[in-house]
Amino acid sequence: MKRLVVLISGNGSNLQAILDACANGELNARVVAVISNKADAFGLTRARRANVPAMVKTKPRAQDRRVYDAELAELVAQFEPDFVILAGWMRILSSAFLDKFPNRVINLHPALPDTFPGTHAIERAFDAFQRGEISHTGVMVHLVPDEGVDSGPVLTQEIVPIEKDDTLESLETRIHQVEHRLLVNTLKGLETGD
Ligand code: GRF
Repeated sequence: MKRLVVLISGNGSNLQAILDACANGELNARVVAVISNKADAFGLTRARRANVPAMVKTKPRAQDRRVYDAELAELVAQFEPDFVILAGWMRILSSAFLDKFPNRVINLHPALPDTFPGTHAIERAFDAFQRGEISHTGVMVHLVPDEGVDSGPVLTQEIVPIEKDDTLESLETRIHQVEHRLLVNTLKGLETGD
C-alpha cells in the first residue's frame, strides 16, 4: 500500500479527493500524514476528520529557507512516504528538501505545462482568455526534481475548456473538479515496491 504524505497550505480540496479515494478503495494508498505551513489551513481539519496525523510547520520569517526545508524533510521522512504530494502547497521547495525524496515529490498545478507557472494560474489563464490569447487551459501533475516552479517532468495533463460565458469562479470550479479526478488517477497509476 502506497504511503503518502500530503503537504497543503489552504482549503485542501485536493487532499480531500485523495482521502476519499483511499477511504472508498479507489486508491490503494494511505495518507500517513498531512503537513501545512499555515496554521489556519482548512485542510488540517479535513485530515483530522479522517484520523490522519495533521501538523503545522510554519516558517519563522527570520529562518533560512534551506534550514526550514531540511527540517521539513526530517519531519516528512519520519512517516516513510513512498510519495510526497504537494496539493495546494504554496512554497517553493529547495534541494534541501527535494534531494531527500528523489523522484518521489509530486505537484499538482492548475495550468498546462509551460503556460502559467506560479501563483494565480487560473486567474492569469482567465485573463488571457478574455484577451483572446488562449481558447483553453488545463491541469497537470508533475514530478518536482528541482526548484523550478511548476516545471518538472509531466506525469499527466488534461485540457480544461474555457467558455465565453465563464466567470473566474465557474472556471475555477471546473478546474478544481478536473484536478481532483486527475490527481487521484495519476496516483493510481504510480507503482511502488509493494
Ligand atoms: C489548487 O488549484 C492547486 O492546484 C493549487 O492551489 C489550489 C489549492 O487547492 N496549487 P486545495 O487547497 O487543494 O483546495
